[in-house]
Amino acid sequence: SPMVVRTVPALRRALEALRARKATVALVPTMGALHEGHVSLVRLAKRRAQKVVVSIFVNPTQFAPTEDFGSYPRTWKADVAKLAAEKVDLIWNPDVKAMYPEGFATRVVPEGPAIAGLEDRFRPHFFGGVATVVGKLFTQCRPDVAIFGEKDFQQLRVVTQMAGDLDLGVRVVGSRTVRECDGLAMSSRNVYLSPEERQTAPVLHRAMKETAKRLKSGEGFESAVAAGRELITGAGFVLDYFEARHAATLAPIASVKDGPVRILVAAKLGKTRLIDNIGI
Ligand code: PAJ
Repeated sequence: SPMVVRTVPALRRALEALRARKATVALVPTMGALHEGHVSLVRLAKRRAQKVVVSIFVNPTQFAPTEDFGSYPRTWKADVAKLAAEKVDLIWNPDVKAMYPEGFATRVVPEGPAIAGLEDRFRPHFFGGVATVVGKLFTQCRPDVAIFGEKDFQQLRVVTQMAGDLDLGVRVVGSRTVRECDGLAMSSRNVYLSPEERQTAPVLHRAMKETAKRLKSGEGFESAVAAGRELITGAGFVLDYFEARHAATLAPIASVKDGPVRILVAAKLGKTRLIDNIGI
């Protein structure tokens, strides 16, 4: 079973041992409630470095007071079993006091085009919380490479930007989205869905594919995007956004020729908020 550390000094000692003979280290940051999507990141990490560290920390600063920090699924025993099966070397599992000790008063605040209007419009606290905790995870673990899922596409952009801007010396690598058989992107939050909602949820993926198909066949940008939106609202979702953006900058575009194009969606089904994206 992997070694588990819960304090920064214990982490430092464990990392020194891991790095003996200059072994390379990959970090996979998570909030636990691990599923096959997380496991795929661990597998990519194993291919990219000799030692793999997985952090499990439900980060309070990326949740608004109205959001699900308190009820976020916590499945510690099952998580450890999954990471043991993947032969992970170290689990970094600080508690909130170890990550944010009394008197903590510094934040990393991302700016610029990567956060210009998608998730940040609906979760304005979110990327500041993510950048601060990921900045801490990177300086605590000093990995050579860190693996993030394309599932959270804007988060991947923001973290890549921050690692470069702050010279953190970490190569940020994106990993493909793992889906259920019916197309629903795996997510720790899928357990919130009622059986009926779970039946409806794959509409998000179907709608993105429909828009992608229409764009590829030369249909006008606005009508192709509108068709995707209608599928989603027609199925009973409350839509936050459904946008076709430039895949690298996330800037708004008006034509496939301005691409590469990424379609990104966020929508609520009952009380559960789902996000997803695909490239075309
Ligand atoms: P969490 O939601 O636990 O996700 C951890 C990592 O797993 C993220 O990089 C996410 O993009 C990736 N992931 C989630 N579902 C996936 C799927 N279906 N396929 C592939 N990868 C998937 O994202 C966070 O935690 C937090 O914001 C964190 C980065 C840990 C900072 O607190």
